[in-house]
Amino acid sequence: MCGIVGYVGEKQVLPIIIEGIKRLEYRGYDSSGFSVINDKKELLIHKNQGKIVELERSIPEDKNFVATIGIAHTRWATHGKATTTNAHPHFGQNEIISLVHNGIIENYQQLREKLEKENHIFQSDTDTEVLAHLIEKFYLETGNFHKAVREALCLVEGTYGIAVMCKDEPEKLIAAKRGSPLIVGIGENENFIASDVAALVVHTKNVIYLQEDETIEITKNNFTIKTLSNTEREREIRKIDWDISAVDKGDFDYYMLKEIFEQPTSISNAFRGRIIESSNTARLGGIRISPEELMKIKQIFIIACGTSWHAGIVGEYLIEDLAKIPVEVEYASEFRYRNSVIPPNSLVIVISQSGETADTLAALREAKSKGAKVMGITNVVGSSIARETDFGSYTHAGLEIGVASTKAFTSQVIVLFLFAFYLGRMRNISPENGAKFIKELYQIPKRVQAILDINDEIKEIAKKYKDVENCLYLGRDYNFPVALEGALKLKEISYIHAEGYPAAEMKHGPIALIDENMPVIFIAPKDFVYTKIINSIEEVKARKGRVIVITNNGKDGIEKLADDIIYIPQTIPQLMPILSVIPLQLFAFHIAVLRGCDVDQPRNLAKSVTVE
Ligand code: AGP
Repeated sequence: MCGIVGYVGEKQVLPIIIEGIKRLEYRGYDSSGFSVINDKKELLIHKNQGKIVELERSIPEDKNFVATIGIAHTRWATHGKATTTNAHPHFGQNEIISLVHNGIIENYQQLREKLEKENHIFQSDTDTEVLAHLIEKFYLETGNFHKAVREALCLVEGTYGIAVMCKDEPEKLIAAKRGSPLIVGIGENENFIASDVAALVVHTKNVIYLQEDETIEITKNNFTIKTLSNTEREREIRKIDWDISAVDKGDFDYYMLKEIFEQPTSISNAFRGRIIESSNTARLGGIRISPEELMKIKQIFIIACGTSWHAGIVGEYLIEDLAKIPVEVEYASEFRYRNSVIPPNSLVIVISQSGETADTLAALREAKSKGAKVMGITNVVGSSIARETDFGSYTHAGLEIGVASTKAFTSQVIVLFLFAFYLGRMRNISPENGAKFIKELYQIPKRVQAILDINDEIKEIAKKYKDVENCLYLGRDYNFPVALEGALKLKEISYIHAEGYPAAEMKHGPIALIDENMPVIFIAPKDFVYTKIINSIEEVKARKGRVIVITNNGKDGIEKLADDIIYIPQTIPQLMPILSVIPLQLFAFHIAVLRGCDVDQPRNLAKSVTVE
């Protein structure tokens, strides 16, 4: 969602912070802006509605932005429209403080009314401006910048990642966080702030992850972390292992396509070092729970949003199939409010690529407050979810920049497979069958590559369907969640209305939609429900629907039923979602490009949904 970048050092700040927010464009935004303290000690703000290129174009030549300290922001509108006035940064009343903010100040109305009674005049409709006014008010009262930030934050309800500058203290940035990520990059005679490591990796790999309710004062050579109640905190500097190639498109025109093509590698990374061949089982290093405790688990809840939720359904099928433990999968946004029952001996698994999704984070806290042990499956090291779970496993997919999640999904499924397999081997999978699973797993990257190799064929098929208005995705068993995921991919990047269903559900409603204009994508690998799927295909054909089939079988008449057919390699049903989702990712990608859509930054969407 919104992005924050800050810099204090010896270099010209503008190119650094503008390039920084460009690295965060993928998170989604609708306006941007920056603030600097120039060499004449003036605190200046410039902002603009629209893309960052518009911001750059609109920089007035007659203004002096020669500066070595500054903050910049990309805003995804929540309170107040996506206008230049509502864009960040915001000044305090007397233009002594400038501030950028990610998150939502929930009690901003009350705070604003109070300040208005004290004759504060607000320029924008945002919740953020209230915080700038508040900090400046306390600064004028105390003369202490860091203290003023802490005092203001003590009055705030809601979530924030903020970066603040004060005209009177031109060598200092202050940042703080609650429920919204904030990372500090440590350089040589320069330090950085960012809401996402993607903005930092080009400058430094040494970072500090700010924790909840902490503030940090940063100069070019120093930093001091304090709690809101003014206790100083020590923090170790950590090394991030992503390199700069992770934030570039390389030979691809789109991040999404690059990430789809990275899957043979990201999938291998997800299981590398996690297989113990000598005992035909899996081992997930981060699962800090004893085998005895694992054996006591009677029920598992999987909680997530969006694509991660779809991976969660694959996880449900895997765990019930391989380990025979009952699983419930729930949307985080529902779980957090509906007072669900978590019986003793339950394990809660939260899944999140970003590790920052607000609903998933809140659900995690709710589950913990009910006494559950919570395991995390996340991609981003040091993210809020990774830190707050009792234990967990990273997916090691590498930075995912395309808003449409692709490699994160397949890596999540691999980790869920490994976990289910491990639980299953403890219970009912024999060593001999364990060896078979491992053998199949090792083949997956090569099989994914075989599907990527027919990308051009998939593009040709996409050309035929690029102008459709609706699309139905149907699958059964392990491929039902893949149908949901395929539909989500298409709708989010091409704006075609798409629905995923379990194939047999079609006749309970969606069949009414079938006519010659309705394409139906069937995920039909040769498994125990294959003949049932064929029946559903016949039903669609009988109503003149257009049928696209994804299958690993082609010699039994299915090719005659299908208008178009995409062949994928064979694997066991438990790993099939990893193969069957790949053509759907490519199909959605090509349709979106052919329709001229902004594939990497689809409208209204944000990569990481850090507000409710
Ligand atoms: C996926 O393509 C979406 N952009 C979205 O559904 C995403 O999966 C969801 O917001 C959850 O994000 P998370 O995995 O970072 O928690």
